[in-house]
Amino acid sequence: MAPVSGRLGAKRILLIVSGGIAAYKALELIRLLRAEGAAVTPLLSANAARFVTPLALQALAESKVYSDLFSLTDESEMGHIQLSRAADLLVVAPASADLLARMAAGLADDLAATVLLATDKPVLIAPAMNVRMWEHPATQANIATLAARGVRRVGPDEGPMACNEFGFGRMAEPPAILGAIIACLAAGPLAGRHALVTSGPTHEPIDPVRYLANRSSGRQGHAIAAALAALGARVSLISGPVALPDPPGVAVTRVETARQMLAACQAALPADLAVFAAAVADWRVEREAGSKIKKSPGAPPPSLSLTPNPDILATIASPGPLRPRLVVGFAAETDALAENAAAKRARKNADWIVANDVSPATGIMGGARNTVRLLTASGAEDWPDLPKTEVAARLARRIAEALA
Ligand code: C5P
Repeated sequence: MAPVSGRLGAKRILLIVSGGIAAYKALELIRLLRAEGAAVTPLLSANAARFVTPLALQALAESKVYSDLFSLTDESEMGHIQLSRAADLLVVAPASADLLARMAAGLADDLAATVLLATDKPVLIAPAMNVRMWEHPATQANIATLAARGVRRVGPDEGPMACNEFGFGRMAEPPAILGAIIACLAAGPLAGRHALVTSGPTHEPIDPVRYLANRSSGRQGHAIAAALAALGARVSLISGPVALPDPPGVAVTRVETARQMLAACQAALPADLAVFAAAVADWRVEREAGSKIKKSPGAPPPSLSLTPNPDILATIASPGPLRPRLVVGFAAETDALAENAAAKRARKNADWIVANDVSPATGIMGGARNTVRLLTASGAEDWPDLPKTEVAARLARRIAEALA
């Protein structure tokens, strides 16, 4: 029995072993995985069975071994679709040049390829082949295709090969593959953290049909919420009115006004970190009309008396037991970016300020790209022009480092 307490306790690995001399290392890999508490289901390609026996895999894994041989029992017990989904991670070790090519092409001509095409789980490959095969442009193109699809890779290593050549192509050693498996299955660096994010504009009513608003699209704030969630954080996104889908895995509260946004933020506390990307209206109409303001012939237009909205960032960042450990504000400026951003950081008690120039010529407001300057206690950093999703990913990584 495998221990349940290892670094992989209760994790299920579908280990696909394809043909090649390195298949013997799969046995050692299974032993290491079992020692870490993982449940391993081996799947053996027809060629792999020439290098390693199903019986050896079965004995070490203490599991049924699936293979290409069509079996009515297999199909009735567990069909290939179910097999592809019943694991937390699919590991292909060794991954032959041939199987990588079939994966890249989307073929389903044997059980291993079919399962890899049908799966909705992460996949890790440990390539093993002759150095010329590895360096061949066809293999390199296949590797690039698979990487672009999110397939993770460990190795190959450089060294002497069974075919008496030397170079890259040796399968990574089982302890390195084990390390890669642990990294693939580890929750992100923000696991266990709660992140509060504001996004979008606010709408401040004038009367039941009219409101004051701004041009914020919410794209940057929503991308930040998604990026933090992707690193494992539990994210509460408080969003003004936007035309964007909810980011996956994020709890979204929709609000209209600044005061509603502040109340929703306070209700979401405590949080470990907060990013205030919303373009909150600075003022609201002092007295909202209960019914539509009518224009009457000859009468002057109504004058709107404005009053300041609460500053959500400054409120949440003020010292107190509920202040998040890391508070990040935004400074959207059209003039004197550096000076205004630095002043804002101090005035609002933010730890960091992400400053951007929103002059109409930049196209940032409502656009897909952003050029920002990150202001922290240790100085200013100018980031290159990047898609908003990339600004978000960088910021999320920086936040994870700061909270580590
Ligand atoms: O003062 P200014 O609006 O330029 O400050 C921008 C920063 O403050 C942003 O992070 C914005 O989300 C936040 N803010 C806020 N509540 C306000 C105004 C701004 O949270 N009422």
